[in-house]
Amino acid sequence: PAKPIQIKVVLLGEAAVGKSSLVLRFVNDDFVENKEPTIGAAFMTQKVRLDDSVLKLDIWDTAGQERFHSLAPMYYRNAQAALVVYDITRASSLDRAKSWIKELERQANPNIVVALVGNKLDLASPATDTPAEEEGEEGEASSANEEANNDEEEGKSRQVPTEVARSYAESMNLLFLETSAKTGEGVVEVFTEITKKIDLS
Ligand code: GTP
Ligand code: MG
Repeated sequence: PAKPIQIKVVLLGEAAVGKSSLVLRFVNDDFVENKEPTIGAAFMTQKVRLDDSVLKLDIWDTAGQERFHSLAPMYYRNAQAALVVYDITRASSLDRAKSWIKELERQANPNIVVALVGNKLDLASPATDTPAEEEGEEGEASSANEEANNDEEEGKSRQVPTEVARSYAESMNLLFLETSAKTGEGVVEVFTEITKKIDLS
């Protein structure tokens, strides 16, 4: 049998947005609540099937803390794909994602496939995110709203509307997905969507 095609994928993004958690979910289908920050970078591999071929993803999970910023070029150099991750409950993390995307434009492989990934989707409250679909009498607090208020007390409600991130991603010609490493939503999709866009010829 033919050797699997090897693909280098790098994850970039502000500290604590959930890069390592996305990789852990994808590779081991697991999640831990209090994951320790990555030091330097971590490496994992995972095979994916695409049509009739098997691809081996070599995944470089970088450390988001600023003191490790200077190491990043080692990991995105020669990468065929990058996941630039932000946390939908932290607006500053989208700004950081945008600066990573600019750095990749300047310094990475010009053919690199980039996906903008909004993680921690499980913390978004459907009631506040889609007000148009809200129902019920005026002045009557629904249970969904009470839930949203609880999220706010913990400081963990959505700060980045989906459409804001999506339109930025479209303007930059990037893939865009929202994910939850906690529930697994969108995680396999984000890794398979990037492999579909890589030019394997
Ligand atoms: P650095 O390695 O420091 O760059 O951080 P990181 O981006 O790898 O983040 P990490 O995966 O370590 O996750 C940071 C914290 O967020 C941990 O406590 C995770 O449990 C939590 N977390 C990660 N993903 C999710 C998610 O999808 N939902 C929720 N609710 N929490 C998450
Ligand atoms: Mg990490």
